[in-house]
Amino acid sequence: MALTVSAQAVQQLNSMPSSWQILVFSLFCIATIVQSDTVEHTFNMCFFAIHPTFTSKFQVGTVSIPRICQPGNITVTAVNGRVPGPVIEAKEGDTVAIHVVNDSPYNVTIHWHGVFQRRTPWADGPSMVTQCPIRPGGRYTYRFAVAGQEGTLWWHAHASFMRATVHGALIIRPRQAYPFPAPDGERTVLLGEWWNADAVQLERQAFLAGTSIAPADAYTINGKPGNLYDCRITTNRGISRFEVRRNSTYLLRIINAALNTQFFFKVAGHTFTVVAADASYTTPYHTDVIVLAPGQTVDALMAAADASPAAGSYYMAISTYQSAIPLRPGSFNGNVTTVLVEYAGSTPSHHHHHQPPAMPEVTDTPAAHRFYTGMTALLRAGCRSAVPLAVDTRMFVTVGLGFSACAPAQTSCNRSAPVVAATMNNQSFTLPTAVSLLDARFRNAARGVYTADFPDRPPVAFDYANATGRELLGTALASTGRASTKVRAVKYNATVEVVLQNTALVGRESHPMHLHAFNFFVLAQGFGNYDAAAAEERFNLVNPQERNTVAVPTGGWAVIRFVADNPGMWFMHCHIDAHLSIGLAMAFDVEDGPTPDTVLPPPPRDLPKC
Ligand code: C2O
Repeated sequence: MALTVSAQAVQQLNSMPSSWQILVFSLFCIATIVQSDTVEHTFNMCFFAIHPTFTSKFQVGTVSIPRICQPGNITVTAVNGRVPGPVIEAKEGDTVAIHVVNDSPYNVTIHWHGVFQRRTPWADGPSMVTQCPIRPGGRYTYRFAVAGQEGTLWWHAHASFMRATVHGALIIRPRQAYPFPAPDGERTVLLGEWWNADAVQLERQAFLAGTSIAPADAYTINGKPGNLYDCRITTNRGISRFEVRRNSTYLLRIINAALNTQFFFKVAGHTFTVVAADASYTTPYHTDVIVLAPGQTVDALMAAADASPAAGSYYMAISTYQSAIPLRPGSFNGNVTTVLVEYAGSTPSHHHHHQPPAMPEVTDTPAAHRFYTGMTALLRAGCRSAVPLAVDTRMFVTVGLGFSACAPAQTSCNRSAPVVAATMNNQSFTLPTAVSLLDARFRNAARGVYTADFPDRPPVAFDYANATGRELLGTALASTGRASTKVRAVKYNATVEVVLQNTALVGRESHPMHLHAFNFFVLAQGFGNYDAAAAEERFNLVNPQERNTVAVPTGGWAVIRFVADNPGMWFMHCHIDAHLSIGLAMAFDVEDGPTPDTVLPPPPRDLPKC
């Protein structure tokens, strides 16, 4: 029986006792049967507010923090004075209301990475895509529901490089049980990238000079570099500690919040069972190494078995995975970042004699690929995979770095040689400056803001995975990287398939491609040039992983599919900020549907003005 809910009924539900509140529906199956003691209903709705609201205040300001491996402090932008910022802990179906007060000297927006934002497109957060930024001194309240999704997500600033220090975890717990044995404890493990400088200024300087940003001074776990850093001053930030009990199982919620760096993650003497990625449950996947690209999350169970009790503690560690071929020496930080996993009741005497786990080589692409392709989605009893089999819109999109002339604002770049720009199908995305994409669409005033002609194919076909820019001189790509603001309009409810093909124009590299507002199914991934006939045979249409960010293999491709069932302007971009900022982005304009609740809603009244 389908239930139609009127506003009045919602109000009644609001005042109902909690037995009613377990009438929660989820989108894990297209229509989930939900049971309580006496009633059984089928809900086809997305959400309505019968759950409590998680409320928090984000005071964005400046804070003075110790440098890493250098004396003294540095002033950075942070939420509530902390890096990482506060954790949002909600339950599936909750409404979240975050009051953001901008006391910083910069424009700010906050993005809720991985949240579906069904019917709340104005709350998504990317600056000039769905909103104008919150000006210094301004405020804005983000309101959205976390419905039909569970697991580990995160939030981050989505204006310039500010997310280096403005980010935190967003945890959505299930209403009922986890689809795996309940852990004895949970830990959030937030991986970050740190510069002994104001990242916003670093980005500005790099842009003006037409150069790339310097490698990070440190990689961090929960804000700390650990004690193995190759520097004299090891006491300035220190090491995080996790206390664990023997014979217990811990759910690690691992988030890669780094700007530009993929990581290998290990714990010496321990292995993991991955149970979710990007807040989508996976078939239990056993591994001793976890790999995360910027933007991705992994939920993994770690059994605390304490194999050699004399040790008392073990290093948890991250090291960088560099996908660039050839490797660019000096472009990354080679240190290993650590946390001490300490067994309760052990004596800490030996701690500093420990060895970190054997980390994969910095260039171990096979290890990364094994992990990225090894996971499948968890199919729950009675539910079939929701992979749509009929495709309405097909796109083939080249992704990578190319060249472009100096932008007018770039004062000191070398005008006799083009600078590096990043492109998708040869378009280098530029954000509008006067109104946001979503606002322009809402007002039917796209003219001068964006055009709806993002191409479905690159302008010329070439040997994508191998040809270099030099070899392509004289083709249409010689003037590659046209700065433009192009979106792809798609019909409401269309199934969209995108082949993401990495290029080698400047160098092969893995690009973690993130789509706002939707999870997509990753049907296949591979190296070299995409070959449709061969790839389609390998498509996983049974239980492909669902993600919001896919690390497209270096010099290779990935095929993703999603259902465009949420009207709005949704950004798709490389989650390496150094690439996003030079144009590796586009947006989907998902058109209105046929019913009143599938039409773009008007902006909230307090939405910041440009
Ligand atoms: Cu987590 Cu548009 O980004």
